[in-house]
Amino acid sequence: AYVVTENCIKCKFMDCVEVCPVDCFYEGENFLVINPDECIDCGVCEPECPAEAIFPDSEEKAAEWAETNRTYAEQWPNITRKGESPADADEWKGKPGKAELLSP
Ligand code: SF4
Ligand code: F3S
Repeated sequence: AYVVTENCIKCKFMDCVEVCPVDCFYEGENFLVINPDECIDCGVCEPECPAEAIFPDSEEKAAEWAETNRTYAEQWPNITRKGESPADADEWKGKPGKAELLSP
């Protein structure tokens, strides 16, 4: 499955949700997650993310995010349409150390 990783935090561009054929994205306050159990591994969302936040969970840096994606996918509402990104999204793009800023 594909999962959303740290780069999404406070960027939340949401281009990803528009292309997912099985609508398996879920929305938190400043982060999105994929339900890895619903993802069909099509891969179309990966190149759509301007923040390069989406990776297959077979990659080491993404594997550690799989549980976070699974957990919040059960708690957050489904999202299928791109909304408004944070006003300062571009400033947070690519910044390191955002993991602790995730709003649960
Ligand atoms: Fe959806 Fe495909 Fe991305 Fe999985 S890989 S989240 S099915 S767009
Ligand atoms: Fe996040 Fe990228 Fe989607 S920043 S909301 S994973 S397009």
